[in-house]
Amino acid sequence: MKFTTAAILLFASSCTSAFVVTNSNKNVVSSFSRLNAITVDPNKQQTDDVIDRSMRFVDEPGSDSASFQPTEGERPALTRNNNDQVWVPQRARPRRNRKNAAMRAMVRENIVLPSNFIYPLFIHEEDENVAIPSMPGCERHSLDSMMKEVGEAYELGVKTFVLFPKVDDALKTNLGVEAYNPEGIVPRAVRMIKDAFPESIVCTDVALDPYSNQGHDGVVEDGKILNDVTINQLCKQAVCQAKAGADVVAPSDMMDGRVGAIRDALDAEGFTDVSILSYTAKYASAYYGPFRDALDSHPGFGDKKTYQQDPANGEEALLEAALDSAEGADMLMVKPGMPYLDVIRRLKDNTNLPIAAYHVSGEYAMIKAACEKGWLNEKDVVLETLMCFKRAGADIILTYYAKQAAQWMKDDGLL
Ligand code: PBG
Repeated sequence: MKFTTAAILLFASSCTSAFVVTNSNKNVVSSFSRLNAITVDPNKQQTDDVIDRSMRFVDEPGSDSASFQPTEGERPALTRNNNDQVWVPQRARPRRNRKNAAMRAMVRENIVLPSNFIYPLFIHEEDENVAIPSMPGCERHSLDSMMKEVGEAYELGVKTFVLFPKVDDALKTNLGVEAYNPEGIVPRAVRMIKDAFPESIVCTDVALDPYSNQGHDGVVEDGKILNDVTINQLCKQAVCQAKAGADVVAPSDMMDGRVGAIRDALDAEGFTDVSILSYTAKYASAYYGPFRDALDSHPGFGDKKTYQQDPANGEEALLEAALDSAEGADMLMVKPGMPYLDVIRRLKDNTNLPIAAYHVSGEYAMIKAACEKGWLNEKDVVLETLMCFKRAGADIILTYYAKQAAQWMKDDGLL
Protein backbone atom coordinates (compact mmCIF):
# COMPACT_ATOMS: atom_id res chain seq x y z
CA MET A 1 0.00 0.00 0.00
CA LYS A 2 1.35 3.37 -0.99
CA PHE A 3 0.68 6.78 0.41
CA THR A 4 -1.00 9.20 -1.89
CA THR A 5 0.44 12.67 -2.04
CA ALA A 6 -2.63 13.92 -0.18
CA ALA A 7 -2.09 11.47 2.62
CA ILE A 8 1.50 12.54 2.99
CA LEU A 9 0.45 16.17 3.17
CA LEU A 10 -2.21 15.32 5.73
CA PHE A 11 0.29 13.46 7.83
CA ALA A 12 2.82 16.20 7.50
CA SER A 13 0.42 18.90 8.60
CA SER A 14 -0.92 16.87 11.51
CA CYS A 15 2.45 16.53 13.08
CA THR A 16 4.50 19.52 14.15
CA SER A 17 7.79 17.90 13.44
CA ALA A 18 6.93 15.81 10.41
CA PHE A 19 10.06 14.47 8.91
CA VAL A 20 10.30 13.30 5.35
CA VAL A 21 13.09 10.91 4.62
CA THR A 22 14.04 10.96 1.01
CA ASN A 23 16.17 7.91 1.17
CA SER A 24 18.38 6.61 -1.53
CA ASN A 25 18.75 3.30 0.25
CA LYS A 26 15.28 1.84 0.57
CA ASN A 27 16.44 -1.31 2.29
CA VAL A 28 17.86 0.41 5.31
CA VAL A 29 14.74 2.42 6.04
CA SER A 30 12.21 -0.26 5.20
CA SER A 31 13.82 -2.71 7.62
CA PHE A 32 12.42 -0.73 10.55
CA SER A 33 9.33 0.74 8.96
CA ARG A 34 7.34 -2.28 7.89
CA LEU A 35 3.85 -1.29 6.85
CA ASN A 36 0.98 -2.43 9.01
CA ALA A 37 -2.18 -1.85 7.07
CA ILE A 38 -4.56 -3.58 9.47
CA THR A 39 -4.43 -1.84 12.82
CA VAL A 40 -3.19 1.55 11.86
CA ASP A 41 -4.80 4.86 11.18
CA PRO A 42 -3.87 5.62 7.56
CA ASN A 43 -2.43 8.97 8.68
CA LYS A 44 -0.04 7.15 10.98
CA GLN A 45 1.15 4.41 8.68
CA GLN A 46 4.84 3.87 8.36
CA THR A 47 6.13 3.99 4.84
CA ASP A 48 9.55 4.00 3.33
CA ASP A 49 9.29 7.75 2.86
CA VAL A 50 7.77 9.02 6.09
CA ILE A 51 8.73 7.75 9.50
CA ASP A 52 6.22 8.21 12.30
CA ARG A 53 8.55 9.11 15.17
CA SER A 54 6.21 7.57 17.73
CA MET A 55 7.37 4.22 16.36
CA ARG A 56 4.09 2.75 17.64
CA PHE A 57 3.08 1.14 14.40
CA VAL A 58 6.21 -0.64 13.32
CA ASP A 59 5.48 -4.30 14.00
CA GLU A 60 2.66 -6.68 13.17
CA PRO A 61 0.59 -7.13 16.37
CA GLY A 62 1.34 -10.47 17.97
CA SER A 63 4.59 -11.00 16.13
CA ASP A 64 7.71 -11.84 18.14
CA SER A 65 9.29 -8.52 17.37
CA ALA A 66 6.21 -6.72 18.70
CA SER A 67 6.69 -8.23 22.16
CA PHE A 68 9.56 -5.92 23.08
CA GLN A 69 9.05 -2.17 23.01
CA PRO A 70 12.13 -0.16 24.03
CA THR A 71 9.95 2.62 25.48
CA GLU A 72 7.98 0.31 27.74
CA GLY A 73 8.41 -1.99 30.70
CA GLU A 74 9.98 -1.44 34.09
CA ARG A 75 13.31 -0.29 32.73
CA PRO A 76 12.63 1.38 29.40
CA ALA A 77 15.72 1.81 27.28
CA LEU A 78 14.20 4.77 25.48
CA THR A 79 11.74 7.41 26.56
CA ARG A 80 9.28 9.74 24.78
CA ASN A 81 9.43 13.47 24.36
CA ASN A 82 6.54 15.96 24.66
CA ASN A 83 5.38 15.05 21.17
CA ASP A 84 5.21 11.32 21.82
CA GLN A 85 8.30 10.78 19.75
CA VAL A 86 10.81 8.15 20.84
CA TRP A 87 13.68 9.90 22.49
CA VAL A 88 17.08 8.98 23.80
CA PRO A 89 17.48 11.77 26.33
CA GLN A 90 20.91 13.29 25.83
CA ARG A 91 22.14 16.83 25.45
CA ALA A 92 25.31 16.13 23.56
CA ARG A 93 24.74 14.85 20.05
CA PRO A 94 28.02 14.84 18.15
CA ARG A 95 26.15 14.19 14.91
CA ARG A 96 24.97 17.83 14.93
CA ASN A 97 28.50 18.81 13.93
CA ARG A 98 28.36 16.37 11.03
CA LYS A 99 24.95 17.26 9.65
CA ASN A 100 26.02 18.65 6.33
CA ALA A 101 29.09 19.33 4.26
CA ALA A 102 29.39 22.98 5.32
CA MET A 103 29.16 22.07 9.00
CA ARG A 104 31.70 19.29 8.60
CA ALA A 105 34.04 21.65 6.77
CA MET A 106 33.65 24.26 9.50
CA VAL A 107 34.65 21.94 12.32
CA ARG A 108 37.25 19.91 10.42
CA GLU A 109 40.40 19.59 12.52
CA ASN A 110 42.91 18.90 9.79
CA ILE A 111 43.47 19.96 6.22
CA VAL A 112 45.94 18.49 3.78
CA LEU A 113 47.33 20.85 1.18
CA PRO A 114 49.74 20.32 -1.71
CA SER A 115 52.14 22.58 0.18
CA ASN A 116 52.44 19.84 2.79
CA PHE A 117 53.78 17.36 0.27
CA ILE A 118 57.30 16.41 -0.63
CA TYR A 119 57.35 14.64 -3.99
CA PRO A 120 60.06 11.96 -4.28
CA LEU A 121 61.46 11.59 -7.79
CA PHE A 122 63.63 8.79 -9.14
CA ILE A 123 66.18 9.96 -11.67
CA HIS A 124 68.78 8.35 -13.90
CA GLU A 125 71.26 9.28 -16.62
CA GLU A 126 69.37 7.63 -19.46
CA ASP A 127 67.46 9.52 -22.15
CA GLU A 128 64.27 7.53 -21.74
CA ASN A 129 62.15 6.97 -18.65
CA VAL A 130 61.95 3.46 -17.27
CA ALA A 131 58.80 2.17 -15.61
CA ILE A 132 59.12 0.67 -12.12
CA PRO A 133 57.08 -2.56 -12.17
CA SER A 134 56.46 -2.70 -8.42
CA MET A 135 55.40 0.98 -8.39
CA PRO A 136 52.89 1.36 -11.22
CA GLY A 137 52.58 5.00 -12.24
CA CYS A 138 56.12 5.85 -11.06
CA GLU A 139 59.08 6.00 -13.35
CA ARG A 140 62.77 6.57 -13.21
CA HIS A 141 63.02 9.88 -14.99
CA SER A 142 65.52 11.20 -17.45
CA LEU A 143 66.60 14.66 -16.32
CA ASP A 144 64.39 16.24 -19.02
CA SER A 145 61.40 14.25 -17.87
CA MET A 146 62.20 15.13 -14.25
CA MET A 147 61.96 18.80 -15.20
CA LYS A 148 58.60 18.21 -16.85
CA GLU A 149 57.31 16.35 -13.79
CA VAL A 150 58.58 19.07 -11.46
CA GLY A 151 56.86 21.71 -13.61
CA GLU A 152 53.53 19.88 -13.59
CA ALA A 153 53.63 19.29 -9.84
CA TYR A 154 54.73 22.86 -9.20
CA GLU A 155 51.77 24.12 -11.20
CA LEU A 156 49.50 22.16 -8.83
CA GLY A 157 51.11 23.64 -5.72
CA VAL A 158 53.58 20.85 -4.96
CA LYS A 159 56.79 22.83 -4.64
CA THR A 160 59.04 20.53 -2.65
CA PHE A 161 60.91 17.62 -4.15
CA VAL A 162 63.37 14.99 -3.00
CA LEU A 163 65.66 13.31 -5.47
CA PHE A 164 66.74 9.67 -5.55
CA PRO A 165 69.31 8.69 -8.15
CA LYS A 166 69.96 5.37 -9.83
CA VAL A 167 73.69 5.30 -10.25
CA ASP A 168 75.67 3.30 -12.77
CA ASP A 169 77.25 0.19 -11.21
CA ALA A 170 80.62 1.29 -12.58
CA LEU A 171 80.48 4.36 -10.32
CA LYS A 172 79.71 2.44 -7.14
CA THR A 173 82.43 1.95 -4.52
CA ASN A 174 82.56 1.00 -0.89
CA LEU A 175 83.37 4.58 0.09
CA GLY A 176 80.59 5.89 -2.14
CA VAL A 177 82.77 8.70 -3.45
CA GLU A 178 80.37 9.39 -6.33
CA ALA A 179 78.00 10.74 -3.67
CA TYR A 180 80.02 13.97 -3.58
CA ASN A 181 80.98 14.32 -7.21
CA PRO A 182 79.88 17.89 -8.02
CA GLU A 183 79.11 16.75 -11.57
CA GLY A 184 77.18 13.70 -10.35
CA ILE A 185 73.55 13.30 -11.30
CA VAL A 186 72.10 14.73 -8.08
CA PRO A 187 74.03 18.03 -8.03
CA ARG A 188 73.21 18.54 -11.71
CA ALA A 189 69.54 17.80 -11.14
CA VAL A 190 69.44 20.18 -8.17
CA ARG A 191 70.95 22.97 -10.27
CA MET A 192 68.46 22.36 -13.07
CA ILE A 193 65.45 22.55 -10.77
CA LYS A 194 66.68 25.58 -8.84
CA ASP A 195 67.51 27.44 -12.06
CA ALA A 196 64.03 26.90 -13.46
CA PHE A 197 62.09 27.11 -10.18
CA PRO A 198 64.04 29.30 -7.76
CA GLU A 199 61.12 29.30 -5.32
CA SER A 200 60.93 25.53 -5.16
CA ILE A 201 62.38 23.56 -2.25
CA VAL A 202 64.80 20.88 -3.36
CA CYS A 203 65.67 18.19 -0.84
CA THR A 204 68.45 15.69 -1.26
CA ASP A 205 68.89 12.29 0.31
CA VAL A 206 72.07 11.95 2.33
CA ALA A 207 73.11 8.29 2.41
CA LEU A 208 75.58 6.16 0.53
CA ASP A 209 73.33 3.33 -0.67
CA PRO A 210 72.80 4.48 -4.28
CA TYR A 211 76.59 4.87 -4.58
CA SER A 212 77.67 1.82 -2.58
CA ASN A 213 78.91 -1.34 -4.25
CA GLN A 214 77.87 -3.06 -1.00
CA GLY A 215 74.27 -1.92 -1.28
CA HIS A 216 74.46 -0.36 2.18
CA ASP A 217 73.95 3.13 3.54
CA GLY A 218 77.44 3.19 4.98
CA VAL A 219 81.01 2.13 4.44
CA VAL A 220 81.54 -1.60 5.02
CA GLU A 221 84.44 -3.40 6.66
CA ASP A 222 84.36 -7.11 7.43
CA GLY A 223 80.62 -7.19 7.01
CA LYS A 224 80.12 -4.28 9.42
CA ILE A 225 78.72 -0.84 8.61
CA LEU A 226 81.19 1.66 10.04
CA ASN A 227 79.57 4.60 11.76
CA ASP A 228 82.08 7.44 11.99
CA VAL A 229 83.83 6.71 8.71
CA THR A 230 80.46 6.82 7.03
CA ILE A 231 79.68 10.18 8.60
CA ASN A 232 82.90 11.55 7.12
CA GLN A 233 81.49 10.68 3.70
CA LEU A 234 78.01 11.97 4.50
CA CYS A 235 79.42 15.37 5.49
CA LYS A 236 81.11 15.60 2.10
CA GLN A 237 77.92 14.51 0.38
CA ALA A 238 75.77 17.06 2.22
CA VAL A 239 78.17 19.93 1.53
CA CYS A 240 78.34 18.94 -2.15
CA GLN A 241 74.53 18.96 -2.34
CA ALA A 242 74.37 22.31 -0.55
CA LYS A 243 76.88 23.79 -3.00
CA ALA A 244 74.63 22.63 -5.85
CA GLY A 245 71.76 24.58 -4.31
CA ALA A 246 69.89 22.04 -2.20
CA ASP A 247 67.57 23.79 0.24
CA VAL A 248 67.20 20.80 2.54
CA VAL A 249 69.47 17.84 3.10
CA ALA A 250 67.81 14.70 4.39
CA PRO A 251 70.09 12.15 6.05
CA SER A 252 68.42 8.75 5.70
CA ASP A 253 71.35 6.58 6.77
CA MET A 254 70.68 6.24 10.53
CA MET A 255 74.33 6.54 11.59
CA ASP A 256 74.72 7.84 15.16
CA GLY A 257 75.69 11.50 15.34
CA ARG A 258 75.33 12.29 11.67
CA VAL A 259 72.89 15.16 12.14
CA GLY A 260 75.25 17.11 14.37
CA ALA A 261 78.23 16.39 12.15
CA ILE A 262 76.37 17.41 8.99
CA ARG A 263 75.10 20.57 10.73
CA ASP A 264 78.67 21.51 11.65
CA ALA A 265 79.96 20.68 8.17
CA LEU A 266 77.29 22.81 6.50
CA ASP A 267 77.83 25.68 8.92
CA ALA A 268 81.61 25.56 8.57
CA GLU A 269 81.22 25.86 4.80
CA GLY A 270 78.83 28.78 5.11
CA PHE A 271 75.57 26.91 4.54
CA THR A 272 73.86 27.94 7.74
CA ASP A 273 70.60 28.36 5.83
CA VAL A 274 70.48 24.82 4.49
CA SER A 275 67.97 22.82 6.52
CA ILE A 276 68.26 19.30 7.83
CA LEU A 277 65.27 17.02 7.50
CA SER A 278 66.42 14.06 9.54
CA TYR A 279 65.13 10.56 8.99
CA THR A 280 64.87 10.33 12.76
CA ALA A 281 62.88 7.15 13.20
CA LYS A 282 63.66 5.11 10.14
CA TYR A 283 62.77 1.50 10.67
CA ALA A 284 64.35 -1.61 9.16
CA SER A 285 61.23 -2.20 7.13
CA ALA A 286 60.10 -4.64 4.49
CA TYR A 287 58.06 -1.81 2.99
CA TYR A 288 61.11 -0.41 1.15
CA GLY A 289 61.25 -3.28 -1.35
CA PRO A 290 59.82 -1.43 -4.37
CA PHE A 291 62.12 1.56 -3.74
CA ARG A 292 65.12 -0.74 -3.84
CA ASP A 293 63.78 -2.23 -7.07
CA ALA A 294 63.53 1.29 -8.47
CA LEU A 295 67.14 2.13 -7.68
CA ASP A 296 68.58 -1.36 -7.85
CA SER A 297 69.80 -0.71 -4.29
CA HIS A 298 68.98 -3.93 -2.45
CA PRO A 299 71.58 -4.63 0.26
CA GLY A 300 74.47 -6.58 -1.22
CA PHE A 301 74.54 -8.77 1.90
CA GLY A 302 72.54 -9.07 5.08
CA ASP A 303 70.02 -6.45 6.01
CA LYS A 304 69.98 -2.95 7.49
CA LYS A 305 69.07 -3.92 11.04
CA THR A 306 72.33 -2.75 12.63
CA TYR A 307 71.49 0.84 11.74
CA GLN A 308 67.76 1.14 10.99
CA GLN A 309 65.39 0.77 13.94
CA ASP A 310 63.65 -2.37 15.11
CA PRO A 311 59.95 -2.19 14.18
CA ALA A 312 59.18 -3.45 17.70
CA ASN A 313 60.48 -0.25 19.29
CA GLY A 314 58.60 2.96 19.95
CA GLU A 315 60.51 4.42 22.92
CA GLU A 316 63.68 4.27 20.89
CA ALA A 317 62.17 6.73 18.41
CA LEU A 318 61.98 9.26 21.25
CA LEU A 319 65.67 8.77 21.98
CA GLU A 320 66.49 9.35 18.32
CA ALA A 321 64.23 12.41 18.28
CA ALA A 322 65.88 13.90 21.35
CA LEU A 323 69.34 13.40 19.84
CA ASP A 324 68.40 14.78 16.41
CA SER A 325 66.74 17.83 17.98
CA ALA A 326 69.80 18.49 20.14
CA GLU A 327 72.09 18.00 17.14
CA GLY A 328 70.29 20.69 15.17
CA ALA A 329 67.73 18.92 12.97
CA ASP A 330 65.06 21.28 11.61
CA MET A 331 62.46 18.61 10.89
CA LEU A 332 62.06 15.02 12.04
CA MET A 333 60.84 12.19 9.85
CA VAL A 334 59.15 8.90 10.62
CA LYS A 335 59.41 6.16 8.05
CA PRO A 336 57.48 4.13 6.92
CA GLY A 337 54.22 6.00 7.43
CA MET A 338 50.96 4.12 7.78
CA PRO A 339 52.12 1.26 10.01
CA TYR A 340 53.96 3.78 12.22
CA LEU A 341 51.27 6.39 12.90
CA ASP A 342 51.75 5.85 16.63
CA VAL A 343 55.40 6.86 16.28
CA ILE A 344 54.40 10.00 14.37
CA ARG A 345 52.06 10.93 17.20
CA ARG A 346 54.66 10.27 19.89
CA LEU A 347 57.21 12.46 18.14
CA LYS A 348 54.63 15.18 17.61
CA ASP A 349 53.75 15.17 21.29
CA ASN A 350 57.34 15.04 22.51
CA THR A 351 59.20 17.52 20.32
CA ASN A 352 58.63 21.02 19.04
CA LEU A 353 59.88 20.42 15.52
CA PRO A 354 57.78 19.83 12.41
CA ILE A 355 57.21 16.14 11.78
CA ALA A 356 57.38 14.48 8.39
CA ALA A 357 55.90 11.12 7.47
CA TYR A 358 57.22 9.06 4.59
CA HIS A 359 54.44 7.19 2.80
CA VAL A 360 56.93 4.70 1.42
CA SER A 361 57.16 2.67 -1.75
CA GLY A 362 55.63 -0.50 -0.29
CA GLU A 363 52.62 1.41 1.01
CA TYR A 364 52.19 2.96 -2.43
CA ALA A 365 52.49 -0.47 -4.05
CA MET A 366 49.86 -1.99 -1.76
CA ILE A 367 47.32 0.68 -2.63
CA LYS A 368 48.10 0.41 -6.33
CA ALA A 369 47.77 -3.36 -6.32
CA ALA A 370 44.42 -3.35 -4.54
CA CYS A 371 43.12 -0.63 -6.84
CA GLU A 372 44.26 -2.47 -9.95
CA LYS A 373 42.17 -5.39 -8.75
CA GLY A 374 39.22 -3.09 -8.26
CA TRP A 375 39.20 -3.75 -4.52
CA LEU A 376 39.72 -0.17 -3.38
CA ASN A 377 38.81 3.23 -4.77
CA GLU A 378 42.20 4.80 -5.36
CA LYS A 379 41.30 8.46 -5.01
CA ASP A 380 39.24 7.98 -1.86
CA VAL A 381 41.72 5.71 -0.18
CA VAL A 382 44.72 7.90 -1.02
CA LEU A 383 43.13 11.15 0.14
CA GLU A 384 42.00 9.43 3.34
CA THR A 385 45.48 8.01 3.90
CA LEU A 386 47.14 11.39 3.47
CA MET A 387 44.63 12.96 5.86
CA CYS A 388 45.39 10.25 8.42
CA PHE A 389 49.06 11.25 8.39
CA LYS A 390 48.00 14.80 9.21
CA ARG A 391 45.69 13.67 11.98
CA ALA A 392 48.42 11.47 13.45
CA GLY A 393 50.64 14.56 13.71
CA ALA A 394 52.58 14.81 10.46
CA ASP A 395 53.02 18.33 9.15
CA ILE A 396 54.83 17.14 6.06
CA ILE A 397 54.08 14.09 3.93
CA LEU A 398 56.51 12.50 1.50
CA THR A 399 54.40 10.63 -0.98
CA TYR A 400 54.64 9.26 -4.50
CA TYR A 401 51.02 10.39 -4.80
CA ALA A 402 51.91 14.07 -4.30
CA LYS A 403 51.17 15.26 -7.82
CA GLN A 404 48.16 13.00 -8.30
CA ALA A 405 46.66 13.97 -4.94
CA ALA A 406 47.10 17.67 -5.71
CA GLN A 407 45.35 17.09 -9.04
CA TRP A 408 42.46 15.32 -7.30
CA MET A 409 42.15 18.14 -4.77
CA LYS A 410 42.04 20.65 -7.58
CA ASP A 411 39.45 18.61 -9.50
CA ASP A 412 37.30 18.52 -6.37
CA GLY A 413 37.51 22.29 -5.97
CA LEU A 414 39.34 21.92 -2.66
CA LEU A 415 42.13 24.29 -3.62
C1 PBG B 1 67.97 4.80 1.46
C2 PBG B 1 66.50 5.09 1.39
C3 PBG B 1 65.51 4.12 1.33
C4 PBG B 1 64.30 4.79 1.19
C5 PBG B 1 64.57 6.16 1.17
N1 PBG B 1 65.94 6.33 1.32
C6 PBG B 1 65.59 2.63 1.31
C7 PBG B 1 66.39 1.93 2.32
O1 PBG B 1 66.66 2.42 3.41
O2 PBG B 1 66.77 0.80 2.02
C8 PBG B 1 62.97 4.09 1.06
C9 PBG B 1 61.85 4.89 0.52
C10 PBG B 1 60.70 4.08 0.05
O3 PBG B 1 60.61 2.84 0.27
O4 PBG B 1 59.80 4.69 -0.56
N2 PBG B 1 68.76 5.61 2.18
